[in-house]
Amino acid sequence: MTLWQGRFGDEMAEAVRAFTVSSAFDRVLAADDIAGSRAHVRGLGRSGILSEDEVAALLEALDQVEAELSAGRFEFGPDDEDVHTAIERRVTELAGEVGAKLHTGRSRNDQVATDLRLWCRHELARVAGEVVGLEEVLVGRATEVGDAYLPGYTHLQRAQPVLLAHHLLAHAWALARDVDRLIATVERMDVSPLGAGALAGSSLPLDPDFVAEELGFHARFENSLDAVSDRDFVAEALFDIALLGVHLSRLGEEVVLWSTAEFGFCTIADAYATGSSMLPQKKNPDVAELVRGKAGRFIGHLTGLLVTLKGLPLSYNRDLQEDKEPLIDAVGQVSSALRALTGLVATLELHQDKMAEAADTPATAAVDLAEFLVERGMPFRKAHALVAGLVRDSVERHVPLAELVQAHPELGDAGAKLLEPGVAVSRRTTPGGAGSAAVAEQLERFARRLDVDRTRLSVLSGQDPPAPSA
Ligand code: ARG
Repeated sequence: MTLWQGRFGDEMAEAVRAFTVSSAFDRVLAADDIAGSRAHVRGLGRSGILSEDEVAALLEALDQVEAELSAGRFEFGPDDEDVHTAIERRVTELAGEVGAKLHTGRSRNDQVATDLRLWCRHELARVAGEVVGLEEVLVGRATEVGDAYLPGYTHLQRAQPVLLAHHLLAHAWALARDVDRLIATVERMDVSPLGAGALAGSSLPLDPDFVAEELGFHARFENSLDAVSDRDFVAEALFDIALLGVHLSRLGEEVVLWSTAEFGFCTIADAYATGSSMLPQKKNPDVAELVRGKAGRFIGHLTGLLVTLKGLPLSYNRDLQEDKEPLIDAVGQVSSALRALTGLVATLELHQDKMAEAADTPATAAVDLAEFLVERGMPFRKAHALVAGLVRDSVERHVPLAELVQAHPELGDAGAKLLEPGVAVSRRTTPGGAGSAAVAEQLERFARRLDVDRTRLSVLSGQDPPAPSA
């Protein structure tokens, strides 16, 4: 039996039921649906549409449905098209006749938009908290490795030595922007659509401001047509997750590269590695690869939703039901990727000796030689050409660069000193640069940023902010 049985003579065809049903995936909204219904019932009571007794009976039935859901005793029936239908059906079974009043002045169109915003609010805040967890691990590792250094790369060619902490923090700053974006998305979506009805509001004296406040939304909708058809917040959530996924894929890719015998910069802990069913010697970086691979899926979800939304006429259209699966999948997948990657990074064995060895190739200090000449008055373009000539000579004649530098009248001993292990990285002194003093300052700035983000997140989830980190 459908919610619209009064209008139709025939029963719904089985193929239609099977095609349109969404309860298999939208049941994750159950707790938020109950929260939305509680606010709606209180609103109906406040406007005098329901008596006090009716409000009490409906709230009691909603409590019972909530208890059944959390005990895993709630049963979805074959005719429950979606989670909203299932809960209303059960409320009516439990409360009797008054159950028929639950949906007064409400449509599933404003109901589903409300539920989904409530769900996104807590789920995106939770994901942001997990991103902060990964940032904390990166900062912990950056602190622990002190002055270790490795080659910094451009075009995947050795460019200049950088502190390992600087490299790790580069990933952390990208993640901090993800947290910022997730928080901004939650703040923007914090608007209640409840009271918009099917599309136009109601002839009954509903109070959308009251229900918005009951649900902890900071505002109510301004336009009922927009309220039931707006899925910008889902698109934004999917974009935030897609870009976060892209950042995680870049970190994953570096773990894949660094753990090769060719790089040898790290070893993945056994608990975070996988083996081969055929090759006994293999230790594979499947977690990092899968993190890299998930980015494709997230981008697909974002693209799919945008195409679903494109060209939809106002207001609600059933196409909008297609918002849920990508969103629920993206949130679940990015969470499990974050958890696995956080553990992997926390336990990664970093081979500082191999990193230093790769970074101490004298040519990675070539720009330091040029800048040494600049400090002595030579124009940079000329200095660049002079050093480039020495590098070329060294490559072509197989003579160590240090020897050529030493022998050069304008470079000599002082120039050759710049090529000694660990010297070049110590010369990266500018703010935000890759040397020790700049990185120490950067670590402090990052710790402050983390404190601010932790506070913003606890405000979002309505808790007391955690104590600031030492
Ligand atoms: N399950 C639907 C959704 O996710 C609920 C709204 C159905 N509304 C309707 N007019 N058929 O969008």
